Amino acid sequence: MWLVSILIIIIIILSFYIYNLATRGICTNSTHLVGKVVIVTGASSGIGFEIAKDAAERGARVILACRNEQKSIDAVDNIKKSTKNQDVFYYHLDLASFASIRKFAGIVIETEKRLDILINNAGTLTGANDATEDGYSLIMQTNHLGPFLLTKLLIPLLKTSAPSRVIITASAMHRMVSVNAEDISRKPNSRTLINAIVYFKSKICNILMTFELDRRLKGTGVTVNCFDPGVVYTPMIHHINYKLIRYVLILFRSFYKKPWEGAQTCIYLAVSPDVENVSGCYFKDCKISKASKTAHDLELAQTIWNESEKCVNL
Ligand SMILES: *[C@@H]1O[C@H](CO)[C@@H](O)[C@H](O)[C@H]1NC(C)=O
Ligand SMILES: *[C@@H]1O[C@H](CO)[C@@H](O)[C@H](O)[C@H]1NC(C)=O
Repeated sequence: MWLVSILIIIIIILSFYIYNLATRGICTNSTHLVGKVVIVTGASSGIGFEIAKDAAERGARVILACRNEQKSIDAVDNIKKSTKNQDVFYYHLDLASFASIRKFAGIVIETEKRLDILINNAGTLTGANDATEDGYSLIMQTNHLGPFLLTKLLIPLLKTSAPSRVIITASAMHRMVSVNAEDISRKPNSRTLINAIVYFKSKICNILMTFELDRRLKGTGVTVNCFDPGVVYTPMIHHINYKLIRYVLILFRSFYKKPWEGAQTCIYLAVSPDVENVSGCYFKDCKISKASKTAHDLELAQTIWNESEKCVNL
């Protein structure tokens, strides 16, 4: 049994490796971002940190929107030192709390004159059965409902700053599942949800939201795209609660992309003039790609949108 499990995991890791070899595009664009304001969620480590650092290198005013205060303060110090850009800040944001999201958005709208690039990158792999203070599954709220509310609250500022861009970190793993309205609003009440499944469902929601938001933003000068970073070695892997899977995944870490590599498609979407008019697309490897058939279902996108509005009380 153990042997079979280990073999299966090794086969999965090898396929990650081959998938990554095929997706090693990097953003070679040298566009500067002086005078632009960039918000990156989940920027204290992993891909988000690399994105924030890159934006700071390009001269943007960068806001790291994260939950863990000490890690975020360290990340800000690190970025300031290595980029010499002092216009880098940490604002507290806990996506598992609608109150925290509203407070954060309120502060941004009050203190920032503009918002050019919003990067919804934060996500979690664990806590499917933990209810947030708002009553939803921690994974679904952190990965989908939270970013949904945050984006909606910041749209007015993005519109007055147009041309502006919204970017969402999705995942190729969205192909593993479908999603329905009940998956989003389900209140966890017993240990029956599987972390990986809820994670995959939250990622297909990210893509459905990208496509629906694009339709609603037509003609506003605000673009929205999502991307698959590939399989990246990030601190998220250390939070997987199945020991065997966690250990094996960590053991093979050199097979995965580094966070800097995983950040490239997002950086491309944030800065490249090539995509200034491109919106409502799923990207992989700095190129437009096709998401699953379910993710392209127009009616499902509307259903998920309507249900999400109900959940966040908008
Ligand atoms: C984007 O659209 C504007 C206005 O129509 C146009 O001037 C510009 O060349 C377009 N950019 C690209 C990369 O196609
Ligand atoms: C979503 O809500 C809008 C407006 O309330 C409604 O017109 C539309 O039919 C709904 N779509 C779906 C698929 O539920």
